[in-house]
Amino acid sequence: MAFDPSGAGARVLVASNRGPVSYTLGDGGPPGPDGLPPLTARRGGGGLVSGLSAIGPDADAVWVCAALGEGDREAVRRARGRYLDPADTGGQRVRMLDIAPETFTAAYNDIANSVLWFVHHMLYQTPLDPVFDDRFRDRWAAYERYNAAFADALAQEAAEGAFVLVQDYHLVLVPGMLRELRPDLRIGHFSHTPWAPPDYFRLLPDDVAAQVLRGILGGNRAAFLTRRWADAFAECCERVLGATVRRVPEQETDGAAEPDAEVQGAEAVREAIREAVRGSEAAAAAAGGRLIVEFEGRTTRIGVHGLGADAEFLRQRSRQPDVDERLAALRAQIGAGRKTIVRVDRTELSKNIVRGLLAFRRLLEQHPQWHGRVVHIAFAYPSRQDLAVYREYTEEVRRVAEEINATFGTPDWEPVALHVKDDFARSLAAYRLADVALVNPIRDGMNLVAKEVPVVSEAGCALVLSREAGACAELGEDALVVNPYDVEATARALHEALVMPEGERAERNRRLATAATALPPRDWFLAQLRALDAG
Ligand code: G6P
Repeated sequence: MAFDPSGAGARVLVASNRGPVSYTLGDGGPPGPDGLPPLTARRGGGGLVSGLSAIGPDADAVWVCAALGEGDREAVRRARGRYLDPADTGGQRVRMLDIAPETFTAAYNDIANSVLWFVHHMLYQTPLDPVFDDRFRDRWAAYERYNAAFADALAQEAAEGAFVLVQDYHLVLVPGMLRELRPDLRIGHFSHTPWAPPDYFRLLPDDVAAQVLRGILGGNRAAFLTRRWADAFAECCERVLGATVRRVPEQETDGAAEPDAEVQGAEAVREAIREAVRGSEAAAAAAGGRLIVEFEGRTTRIGVHGLGADAEFLRQRSRQPDVDERLAALRAQIGAGRKTIVRVDRTELSKNIVRGLLAFRRLLEQHPQWHGRVVHIAFAYPSRQDLAVYREYTEEVRRVAEEINATFGTPDWEPVALHVKDDFARSLAAYRLADVALVNPIRDGMNLVAKEVPVVSEAGCALVLSREAGACAELGEDALVVNPYDVEATARALHEALVMPEGERAERNRRLATAATALPPRDWFLAQLRALDAG
C-alpha cells in the first residue's frame, strides 16, 4: 500500500534505479525477527542523497527504487515490495519495488548498462556491436515493464501537483508513462550521463530511439549536467522525431528567468557559459538561447545543472581518523620524497584506465628522471561485474599495471600502486596526497573525482583532465586538458603537471576548487525543483 501520512500523498518524489541505502550482512549479531542474519545499513553518498536532505524532514518526500547499494542481493530479496525501515535510511521514506529478478536483469544489465550506457558513452566497437535482434526485443519489453512499474508506483504515491524527479537512463520511459497516468504532476528527468550526438544515437532501432525521446519529452523538463549534452538531446529530438526546438534568446522569453545583459565578444560568451554550467539558466540563455522542445502539442524545457562537489562534507570527512590512518599507510607504501599521480575510478569502460596506464608507461619511457621518483596510485573499484566485458576490462587493467611494474620496478620502487577494493576513506587519503590527478574518461557526464580532488588536496594538485568529461566545461581553464585517446599527449601532460612550479599549482588548484564547488548538491537539487516550479 502507498505511504500516505495525511491522505494526500508525497509532495516530492525521487525515482532512481538504485536507492539511497546499501546493506551488508551483519557479522554474527543476533538474528532478526525473521530468524535471518542481521543486515547492516549504510546511507548512500552522492548528489541526490545530500540534495534531497535540503528539502528538510517535514516535506512529504518519497524515494522509489528497484535496487540497493553494493552487497545488496540478500537485502534486495528481503526488501522487495516494501518500504525500508526509516532507521536504515536516516528517516527517508524509501520504497523498493517488487520487480521480478529476470525482468530486473534484462532491464538493468542488458538494456540500461549494455545498450543505453554504451550509446551515450559511444563505447560500441561498431564492426561487431551492437546487434539488435529478437533477444534485444525481449529485453526491451522487460525494460518497458520495469519502467511501467516505476510509473505505477509514482502515480500511487504522488500528491496532487507533486514534483517528481526521475533519474537517468534506466528510467527514460517513466516521464511519458507517468504523464498518461497523472497529468497533474510536474515531472522532470535528469540525465547524469552524456547524451549521444544524433548520428550515434541513431544506432538504436528507429522505434526504440523515438520511444526513448518521447519518454523523456513526457516530462515538463529534461535536465543535463552540461550544455553540450543538452544540445545533443535537442538535436536528437529534431533529427529523430522531427520535433521543433526553440533556441530562445533571453529577451523573447516570458519572464520566467531574469533578463540578462547583452553578451558581446568571445570572452563574454565564455563567461556566460561558465555561469550557465554553474546552474544559472539566465546566463545559459544568453550564451546560446533557452532550449525548448515542442512535440505533438507538448512543451518540454531543457535545463542545465552542473552538479558540484560538496565542499563542506569533503573537508570534514577527509580529516577523520580513518582517513589519517590510510594516509599514513599510503605514505609508507609510496616511500619518502616521491611524487604521486592519483586516479580514482570504478573499473568502468568509459573511464579509460588502460590508456591512463599506457600514458604513465610512456612517461617513464620518455623521462627516465622520474624512475624511482613518482608513483601512480590507481584505484580501480570493481563495477558491474555481472557483465563479461567489465570483468575482462578489470583483468586488462590488472595486466597492464603488472606489466609496468615488471618492466620498470626496482626492489624499493613499485611504479603503479593498484588497489581494487573499494574504500572511500582511502580514496580521500589519496586525494590529500595527490600531486597530480589523472581524470581521462573517454566520455563522462560530469566526473566528480575531478571536482573532489582540488577540494581535498593538501599541497595543491595539478589536474590532467579529459576534454570529453562534462567537468571540463567548468574546470578546463585551470586543468591540463587532453584528448583521452591520445596516449602520447596524456604522457606529455603528466610530465608538465609533475614539473609545474608549486606556486602555479597551488594557484590553479585554488581556482579549480572554487569552480568545482559552485553548485553543491543541495543547491543543485533545489535548482531543479525551482526550475520545475517555474515552468
Ligand atoms: C554512475 C553514473 C550514473 C549512474 C550510476 C549507476 O554513477 O554516473 O549516471 O546512474 O553510475 O551505477 P550502478 O552501479 O547502479 O550501475
